[in-house]
Amino acid sequence: MTKPVIWITRTLSDATMARARRDYEVIWDAADAPGGAEDIIAMSGQVDGIIPCHSEHFSADVVARLDPRLKIVANHSVGVDHCDLPALGPRGIVVTNTPGVLSDATAELAMMLMLGAARHAVAGDRVVRSGDWDFWSPAFLVGKQITGARLGIIGMGGVGRAFARKARGFDMEIHYHNRNRLTPEDEAGAIYHDTLDDLLAVSDFLSLHCPATPETTGLMNADRLARLPEGCVLVNTARGNLIDETALLQAVEAGHIGAAGLDCFATEPGGNPAFARHDNIMMMPHVGSATVRTRDAMGFKALDNLDAFFAGKPSLDPV
Ligand code: DGY
Repeated sequence: MTKPVIWITRTLSDATMARARRDYEVIWDAADAPGGAEDIIAMSGQVDGIIPCHSEHFSADVVARLDPRLKIVANHSVGVDHCDLPALGPRGIVVTNTPGVLSDATAELAMMLMLGAARHAVAGDRVVRSGDWDFWSPAFLVGKQITGARLGIIGMGGVGRAFARKARGFDMEIHYHNRNRLTPEDEAGAIYHDTLDDLLAVSDFLSLHCPATPETTGLMNADRLARLPEGCVLVNTARGNLIDETALLQAVEAGHIGAAGLDCFATEPGGNPAFARHDNIMMMPHVGSATVRTRDAMGFKALDNLDAFFAGKPSLDPV
């Protein structure tokens, strides 16, 4: 029997590539460059399915020009903001994602950024690494303690809940805002705020874990940043466009935001060079899910979704 042909747009884990090559005819380019609009359109006539990452953009314009051969977009990501779902739906193209398997890895990175931002990890590392560490005082690099502090979480899906579990280990008091209130079991003592403004007012630390949608674009704007307590530490491992970066920069420069830990930026790759002027902004290049175990799990989930589709079964992770 001929194998379905799939395009794997980026370099996935070795285990994922091996399994994909066993079960499919795989098109993959070792150059590991993002697929642009014309690449996606051209490839859609040669393949039955695509495993893209968030670096490939299925905009309405691209979707309108896809070849009917393409039947499934099995994303190697939980976020699907790079896919215009209202455009893909009517084309009959199945879209899936990888929920659940990257929650712990992303929550670990959020914890690293929260701790690092709160305790001057950027400045501390630099002064030791550069050989310029020639001074010590009790007043040196004094940070903000997280133990017992109030943590606000926006979005209590898989990643938000995983982050809450880890923060409980630091005795943080968990507050959250979510479209729907969680069950008492999932809340595990977290305090629900039915409005975002209520949550912001109590968030000494704030971590973003909601999807990027037209409604959440610019969610953390100047007005909402101003509602946070003085000195709040803001963490974003979700998507860059949740934050108005100009407003964040102003709030950091005014001292209202005490520190920030960012894994996501409005412009990726690249980030925001203006943030680099501030040691109290700790940054990583969108690598929340980048652990060996999680990359394998994401790749396998994308392949599970393809397998189900080509076996004529219902989608495992439809979006
Ligand atoms: C996701 O899965 O959405 C991560 O941001 C990596 O793409």
